[in-house]
Amino acid sequence: MSVHTMEQAPAAKTFGATVLEASGVTMRFGGLTAVNNVDLTVHEGEIMGLIGPNGAGKTTFFNCLTGMYKPTEGEVKFLGTILPPKPRAVVKAGMARTFQNIRLFGNMTALENVMVGRYCRTNALALTSIIRGPKYRREEAESRRIAQELLDFVGLGHTAEHLARNLPYGDQRRLEIARALATDPKLILLDEPTAGMNPKETQQAKDLIFRIRDKGLAVVVIEHDMRFIFSLCDRVHCLVRGETLIEGSPQEVQSDHRVIEAYIGQPDADEEELVAEAHAHDHEPHTQPAQAAQPAPAPQAAQSPSDVIKEGQA
Ligand SMILES: Nc1ncnc2c1ncn2[C@@H]1O[C@H](COP(=O)(O)OP(=O)(O)OP(=O)(O)O)[C@@H](O)[C@H]1O
Ligand SMILES: [Mg+2]
Repeated sequence: MSVHTMEQAPAAKTFGATVLEASGVTMRFGGLTAVNNVDLTVHEGEIMGLIGPNGAGKTTFFNCLTGMYKPTEGEVKFLGTILPPKPRAVVKAGMARTFQNIRLFGNMTALENVMVGRYCRTNALALTSIIRGPKYRREEAESRRIAQELLDFVGLGHTAEHLARNLPYGDQRRLEIARALATDPKLILLDEPTAGMNPKETQQAKDLIFRIRDKGLAVVVIEHDMRFIFSLCDRVHCLVRGETLIEGSPQEVQSDHRVIEAYIGQPDADEEELVAEAHAHDHEPHTQPAQAAQPAPAPQAAQSPSDVIKEGQA
């Protein structure tokens, strides 16, 4: 099996308008430059992967995009407008995210957690909420209906009345996605959505992200599981020590020497050979469509690009 027989994202397609355009984003903490001059453009209907070793600056970059940090330099344009570095304004503009460390309201039900996400889209004023007049009740009923639909969409419809803290870990991650979707975003940023998931849950998460993309949203996803990233994303952007190492198709990124080195250090002679072979296959015609259609083995825990390439040779 060559690297090409891996399960891949659907064939190249055209994407919609530019949703996100981050340019020259730099974030310094004192003497540490966590993100250095990073550009990222994402289009409607596109799934962009953001990879890089621990501490590469992935989450810090998300924090810059979502207004949690004001970048030291650079700008973030969303739907053609430079966003103020304020999380509420960013959410209202249509950018939603999930967190590497799950942030749910543990003592609220799953449904209530999703309803919280709706609040940025409701018009009820504080006073109407206190009086609980007809306008408030209408909006509350509508929020409840939409929240239940979103729970169904992520496969958690049956957990609506469960306390968030009692849900299994994988369900909590999906609940965070439902809450992010409740803000009615055009772009969703997912920070390690499959961390702690078993292979079946990881596959379900992948299907869910494809369904989110099919609704026309743009997706940026941070993950360490390379099989997941390379079979999900249209493009992949690799950060190392805060800087862009490469951005390209999954095929380009997974066979790039520097990406492998960034994850596991300098390649040994065997790896050099494997990578050379992977490149050689790049120029071969695809002559084994039946084999290519075979399902990929169940995903493992986090894999380095070289793991993927090695499996490709097995
Ligand atoms: N608020 C902060 N203050 C100071 N340093 C920070 C802060 N946030 C992040 N850093 C540093 O910035 C660097 C990048 O961290 P970041 O969390 O963005 O990496 P990451 O790529 O998301 O890593 P991981 O894969 O482990 O989640 C690290 O050296 C980290 O210690
Ligand atoms: Mg992180």
